[in-house]
Amino acid sequence: MEKKVSQHVTWVGKTDWQLTRFHGDEYSTHLGSSYNAYLVRDEKTALIDTVWLPFDKEFVQGLKAQIDLRKIDYIIMNHNEVDHSGALPELMREIPDVPIYCTAKGESIIRGHYHQDWNFVNVKTGDTLSLGKTTLTFFEAPMLHWPDTMFTHLSHDNVLFSNDGFGQHYASESLFDESVEDMNRLLNEAMKYYANILGPFSAMVKRKVAELLGMGLPIDIIAPSHGIIWKKHIDLIVGKYRQWCEDYAENQITIVYDTMWNSTRTMAENIADGIRLADPGITVKLFNAAHSDKNDIITEVFRSKALIVGSPTINNGISFAMEGLMEMIKGLKLKGKCGAAFGSYGWSGESPKLLTAKLEGAGFKILAEGLRAPWVPEENVKTQCREYGIAFVKALA
Ligand code: FEO
Repeated sequence: MEKKVSQHVTWVGKTDWQLTRFHGDEYSTHLGSSYNAYLVRDEKTALIDTVWLPFDKEFVQGLKAQIDLRKIDYIIMNHNEVDHSGALPELMREIPDVPIYCTAKGESIIRGHYHQDWNFVNVKTGDTLSLGKTTLTFFEAPMLHWPDTMFTHLSHDNVLFSNDGFGQHYASESLFDESVEDMNRLLNEAMKYYANILGPFSAMVKRKVAELLGMGLPIDIIAPSHGIIWKKHIDLIVGKYRQWCEDYAENQITIVYDTMWNSTRTMAENIADGIRLADPGITVKLFNAAHSDKNDIITEVFRSKALIVGSPTINNGISFAMEGLMEMIKGLKLKGKCGAAFGSYGWSGESPKLLTAKLEGAGFKILAEGLRAPWVPEENVKTQCREYGIAFVKALA
């Protein structure tokens, strides 16, 4: 069935309802995803992006049902990670001479992946390609989120093909935001996508969104390469991106810990009580790093103004789960957030110090010396933890 996006644009991607992991095992996709590709049919025909490798044959068969492949005049590759370029080899076997429009970086990435001498045309910001009544305008957007990334604008229909930008891992049989019943769920997926994938490049996002809007191209539809297409809520998602790229923080403190025999957990819960005692208006959320989804935790850290992390001391170090999570947090290059650390111990007790150093290394402002407590917390230690939470909120003010 043809899925019409606008007068000249048809969706020719793949919806992947069963996807639970993305980027290997790096990213959880609780709601599946889609690999959006688009066919623009005017006097000339352009294909914008392809789909992930496992669906390459299905993709090309689907395209054949829509169009005689020989009628495709141009292939536009906005970004060449395998989830978008994976079907390119299968397609190019059928139409090997069709020019591939991409950035110079895009060409080198495609060559690095597929080792083929295809007909590449490098484009830069402001370059155009006429399709007849409509014109494609290219816009380089390096590091949103790979160095090759570009956006493509289609005049007349006023569609911005933004690739990963404004995307979400959200499977749907409907194309548009107006069909989404629970907008908060969609926005949460968009935030998770931003926090985990685009967040480290927020400075570029800020610059590029301003530059793009400054070009004055009319935009009635934002068509990303994953998930729902924005049509009714363009101002909402663009507004969110403008907030998220500016050291974003809600009135939330997140506590992430690991625990062996519940001592560090008890500390976490009493620190949380202290925070609530000091300011009931602050949202406090607790996660066990070994049990909760790491990407959901990252999203909560992204939306928080402060992060308090805890681990028992294990073999003079911290737990496996906390080590992995702190490595992920470091990579996010978060700015403007505060932190502190705690943990239980039996004899050596290094974990709060180690976690504090990791928080500092990840760019957090440390508001309190690490809190450590031996063996199983008694009432006096629980009180100490609550006081720690209260003092943390005061230091945060
Ligand atoms: Fe959706 Fe960066 O690929």
